[in-house]
Amino acid sequence: MTAASPSTPAGIAELLAFYASAGVDDALEDAPINRFAEAAKSAERRPTERTPAAPRREAAPESRTAPEQVPARVENPPAPLSGLDAANIPDAPARVPAAAAVPDEAQAAAARQLAASASTLDELRQHMAAFDGCNLKFTAKNLVFADGNPNADLMLVGEAPGRDEDLEGLPFVGRSGRLLDRMLAAIGLDRGSAYIANVIPWRPPGNRTPTPHETEICRPFIERQIELVNPKVLINLGGPSAKTLLNTTEGILRLRGNWRVHTTASGKAIPAMPTLHPAYLLRTPAHKKLAWRDFLEVKAKLRGLA
Ligand code: URA
Repeated sequence: MTAASPSTPAGIAELLAFYASAGVDDALEDAPINRFAEAAKSAERRPTERTPAAPRREAAPESRTAPEQVPARVENPPAPLSGLDAANIPDAPARVPAAAAVPDEAQAAAARQLAASASTLDELRQHMAAFDGCNLKFTAKNLVFADGNPNADLMLVGEAPGRDEDLEGLPFVGRSGRLLDRMLAAIGLDRGSAYIANVIPWRPPGNRTPTPHETEICRPFIERQIELVNPKVLINLGGPSAKTLLNTTEGILRLRGNWRVHTTASGKAIPAMPTLHPAYLLRTPAHKKLAWRDFLEVKAKLRGLA
């Protein structure tokens, strides 16, 4: 980095917090360093000592080259935070427990248990707010749980909060949220007659794509949320929501417009309509007509089930 760097611990902590919120999750030197050569040299110097194993890294997130698969977020996000440990920075906010830096299967198991133990939406929200097993929580400002009417017949599930949602603690309040409101209004609904949530309840830093592991950790929460709301119809906004909740690997352009089923843990089948994400529609307005058709399908289904 060539820009002037702060010299006080508080200034350094502030700068690191800014980098984390901007999605910077790897620290590099200005000049490349050949770590293999360094390791070889130190092995020569200490022939009897073993070179320490490299820290374990999470698998890199899926690349996002196919626009129909993941239309809402940035492509080819960087690998997750690996070298920064706030505990080693004087005066750094003490918010990053070591266990949260590298999510593992134990965290997914804890999330499943916690989600299953919630018998109301309020309880679920409290459990999620107390859960420290997803690293996204520690760069987000707020838990984005839901908006709308929990007694509504229609529930919509997006991917993950963006900046505006993170600041307000509510889903779909930014530009794509305003488009979503217009789409709902077009079929005679609003946030008083629909319930809105996301697969991931914490904003990924810099709006990067959530990793498959982060999604697995958060999945039990959204599945339980759907079960507790018990809507008559579900709309999956975008590929990540459709793939996570409909158990498919198909791209959203293939999935959209066709009824699928979301099956809850208790075995209840909820009709689900995958459609295009509003953020994608803002970038590709020619496809709004496709989403419009999907919303009309939903309107007809809700009428039929009334
Ligand atoms: N995109 C999403 O998927 N969810 C939001 O809440 C906002 C934007």
